[in-house]
Amino acid sequence: MPKVTVRDVAEMKARGEKIPMITAYDYTTAKVVDQAGIPLLLVGDSLGMVVLGYESTVSVTMEDMLHHVKAVARGAKNAMVIADLPFMTYHLDSTQALSNAGRLIQEGGASSVKLEGGQRMAETTRRIVECGIPVMGHIGLTPQSVNGLGGYRVQGRGREEAEQLLKDALALEQAGAYAVVLEMVPAPLACVISQRLTIPTIGIGAGAGCDGQVQVIHDMLGLFTDFVPKHARRYAHLADVMTDALTRYAQEVRDGSFPSAKESFKMDQALLEGMASVT
Ligand code: KIV
Repeated sequence: MPKVTVRDVAEMKARGEKIPMITAYDYTTAKVVDQAGIPLLLVGDSLGMVVLGYESTVSVTMEDMLHHVKAVARGAKNAMVIADLPFMTYHLDSTQALSNAGRLIQEGGASSVKLEGGQRMAETTRRIVECGIPVMGHIGLTPQSVNGLGGYRVQGRGREEAEQLLKDALALEQAGAYAVVLEMVPAPLACVISQRLTIPTIGIGAGAGCDGQVQVIHDMLGLFTDFVPKHARRYAHLADVMTDALTRYAQEVRDGSFPSAKESFKMDQALLEGMASVT
C-alpha cells in the first residue's frame, strides 16, 4: 500500500469517508498502527503527558518531538506521519515557525506538521504551506494555551466564542491548511464547521459530525491511568494486561520457574566438565 498523502485525505472527505487518526510516539506502535490500516498518525505533543510524565504539553521541546518523530517515521510505512510543533516553537515569527516545521520534516521524517491556533496563526500557516509543508490546524481547546484558557474546558459554547471558532476554521482553510482538528467543541457546532469547510475536520471530543476522529492511543488502549478524558472510549485495558503479566513474571523469577530449559542455551558437556580444572 502506498504512503497516505494530503491528497488522499482530501479525497476521503470528498467521498464522505470518515477518517481515523491516532497518536503514536515510537517505532513499534507506529508499525501496529500501520497494520491496523489507520491512515493518519499523529506524533502529538500529548507525548509530554502520556510518555514523558510532564504535567502538560507546555514543557515539550523540539528535541523531545524530533526524538519521537524519527522513531515513528521509521515504523510507519503507510500512514501519513503528522508532527506537532511544540509550544513556543512557531510563535515568535514566521522564520522560527518555518525553521522548526522544516526540521520536523527534514530531520524527523514527518510528512506534515500540526499547529495550534486559528486566525492568529493563519499567516504562519500560509508561510509554511508556501514552502511545501502541509499544515494541519488545531482549534477549540488548544492544550498549549491551557494556562490562558483557564483549564481543559469545552470551547465555543457561547455565541461569540462559537462564531470565532468558525472564523478560525475558515481562516485556516483559506491559509492553505489541509485539515483542522476540533478539540472539545460542542457536537452541533463542530457539525456546522465541518459542513462549512471544504477541508476535513478531525474531531476529539467534538462529536460524530466531524469528517474524522483522533484519539490519544494511551487513552483508547487503557494505558494511561492518571485520568480518562470524557471523550475517550476504552477499546482495551492494557495497563491491567501489563500489570498481570509483570506480576506473573516477578513471581516466576522469585519461585525459579523462569527461565526454564526452553528459554536457556545449551553447552557441550565435556567442555563444561573441563571447567572444573580451571583455576
Ligand atoms: O497532542 C495530541 O495528541 C493532540 C491530539 C489530542 C489532537 O494534539
